[in-house]
Amino acid sequence: VSTEPFPIRPDYNPFIPAHKRDPFPFYAEARKHTPIFFSPILNMFVITRHEDIVAITGDPARFSSMQSLEMPPDTPPEVFGILSQGHPLVPALINNDPPSHTRIRGLCNKAFTPSRVAAMEGRMRATANMLVDQFAAAGKADIMGQFAFPLPQIVIADIVGVPREDIQKFVGWGAEWAAMQFEKLPPDAQIQAAHSAVAFQQYNADMVEARRANPQDDLMSGLVHAQIDGEARLSTVEIISIVTTLLIAGHMTTSHLIGDALAVLTQHPDHMAALYRDPSNTAAGLVEEILRLETPAPGLFRTTTEDVTMNGVTMPKGARLYLLYASANRDESVFPDPDRFDPARPNLGNHLAFSRGIHYCLGAPLARLEGKVALEVLAARLPNMRMAAGQELDYTLNLSFRGPNALVLEWDV
Ligand code: HEM
Repeated sequence: VSTEPFPIRPDYNPFIPAHKRDPFPFYAEARKHTPIFFSPILNMFVITRHEDIVAITGDPARFSSMQSLEMPPDTPPEVFGILSQGHPLVPALINNDPPSHTRIRGLCNKAFTPSRVAAMEGRMRATANMLVDQFAAAGKADIMGQFAFPLPQIVIADIVGVPREDIQKFVGWGAEWAAMQFEKLPPDAQIQAAHSAVAFQQYNADMVEARRANPQDDLMSGLVHAQIDGEARLSTVEIISIVTTLLIAGHMTTSHLIGDALAVLTQHPDHMAALYRDPSNTAAGLVEEILRLETPAPGLFRTTTEDVTMNGVTMPKGARLYLLYASANRDESVFPDPDRFDPARPNLGNHLAFSRGIHYCLGAPLARLEGKVALEVLAARLPNMRMAAGQELDYTLNLSFRGPNALVLEWDV
């Protein structure tokens, strides 16, 4: 029995393979017995229940996001030295609090409008069909590598205004960055990733300067020129931070959403049949329940600005918190029979896959539309999709991204 004022769980290790495959039994047990616990491996408090996460995301004054993108605790000093040579990742969206967050988010909302997202649909559909053209006749493909990864990469490149021939650059830089931030990398890999992070920032800085000189009809130009009465426009370093976030958060999560949907639907023939019967009326609801059940962004961070007591646990000022959205989305007190895939749940909209409150995902409308278009196009083009026999799914899981690395499907040709 612990003598600390809070439960400590050294048995929680999000980086081991068994946890990557299926973290959900651990989450269920934690929700029941230690809904808020301290993890020595993360040096953070882990928050597992829906109501606690709703309370925390609704109270940015006591739960700050300023340190959300802080480097892991054992990062070697050399890494900070390399990063300091690039453009600093200034507080912008995910790593910011009001009032600065309010200003920047307002300007982003001006640039990233619902009409800009809606206008993408035709091009998105054409891209999805172009990808399917490349493998449909084969009757079999790794749908992650051939479709679920490239589609959101191309879509975010088109929206932001990155030339398609540079996609592999930002995808590679972003993957290294995410690993540096959200995984436990060995020091030499961290150093390599820090060099890539600097190259990524420089690339984004060059794009911002190019759009200042020569505006285009893209989001990058929209950010450069966004204006709200009485507010300063976005500075170059702010836009670099925003665009870096978009080019990391804007594709991997959505790729995982598409892969999760296909992994689940191939295991639920009744729902797959419903998709084939009436894609345009079923796809959106299926995507929503996949968001709840699989939660492609399993958790993000906050820091307490004062001592806070919750559920009998006192977290000191300055404590870092890991909000486990993936656990909240299976909280049985909100979603009965939570492990069951059921797109007809009456309260599906209560899921936290995009968080809540002021940091609610900026890209949620885009991600939902991409998930819907992906399912509609695949259902129209690939009859009788099924999982190829004998594969054990391998999941990426760092603290903030989870989804299948590969998924081999077969269909009738
Ligand atoms: C299925 C796909 C996606 C999921 C599950 C997801 C999830 C999330 C979550 C949970 C947050 C809250 C972060 C926090 O707690 O601090 C968030 C924020 C954010 N997301 Fe997404 N996201 C997705 C797709 C996208 C896309 C496509 C974009 C961009 C085009 C995007 C851009 C952002 C940005 C900029 C923020 C920060 C918003 C702020 O702090 O004001 N996301 N996302």
